[in-house]
Amino acid sequence: MPNIFKYNNEADYISEATKAIEKFIMEQGKSPLRVALSGGSSPKVVYEKLAESKRIDWSDVELYQVDERFVSSDSNESNAKLIHSSLTSKTPNLKLFHTFNTSKKIEEALSDYEKELGQLKAPLFDLVLLGLGNDGHTASLFPYGPELKENERLVTESNSPQGVTKRVGLSFPAIMSSKKIIFLIRGKEKGEIIRKWLGEGARPEEIPAKIILQHPDIDVFYDQSV
Ligand code: 6PG
Repeated sequence: MPNIFKYNNEADYISEATKAIEKFIMEQGKSPLRVALSGGSSPKVVYEKLAESKRIDWSDVELYQVDERFVSSDSNESNAKLIHSSLTSKTPNLKLFHTFNTSKKIEEALSDYEKELGQLKAPLFDLVLLGLGNDGHTASLFPYGPELKENERLVTESNSPQGVTKRVGLSFPAIMSSKKIIFLIRGKEKGEIIRKWLGEGARPEEIPAKIILQHPDIDVFYDQSV
């Protein structure tokens, strides 16, 4: 079972999640250190705080995207734009930020990203940061989507039932190839799906985030104040 940390105020959620990520990065003491970042509102506030870290040497860190909406990189729906505005625009010495190239055709964007990942030795990532949707999706892996069965490729495309439909992102095998996984979750309304996610009964096709629970090192930071 994951370690669950619940917060009743925003400031504690932000500072404790940021401290945990900072501590993990510092403890690894390796270069390059690979971290995959999700989009969404829950991690944004943590990215902003992480950007202020005086302890992380960003020149040792390579960032990757967990997933992306297939929109132009200047769209307000773009996860790369969110990560850039909240974090990478403030870390000028960052080693690299690998993004899905949404100006290409979807299959090309996927195969370019997969080629980059294919050059890495397992585990692909030191740390993967994930979120949890109200419907149990994580990354761009949606309930009952065909992408849940992707076991060969490191990347996958999918269709979100809400908002921007076309998505690209890491497949389950790629996400699981990480030393550690941290979930960043905000919102009172997420309480119910968290209970289902961590409880018995629901099947993984119904709550895709369940499959991730097989990973041996997961922390969950949950802000239930908003
Ligand atoms: C995205 C994500 C997605 C997200 C969840 C939760 O691009 O939106 O990667 O999987 O983590 O939808 O989103 P919130 O943090 O906004 O609730």
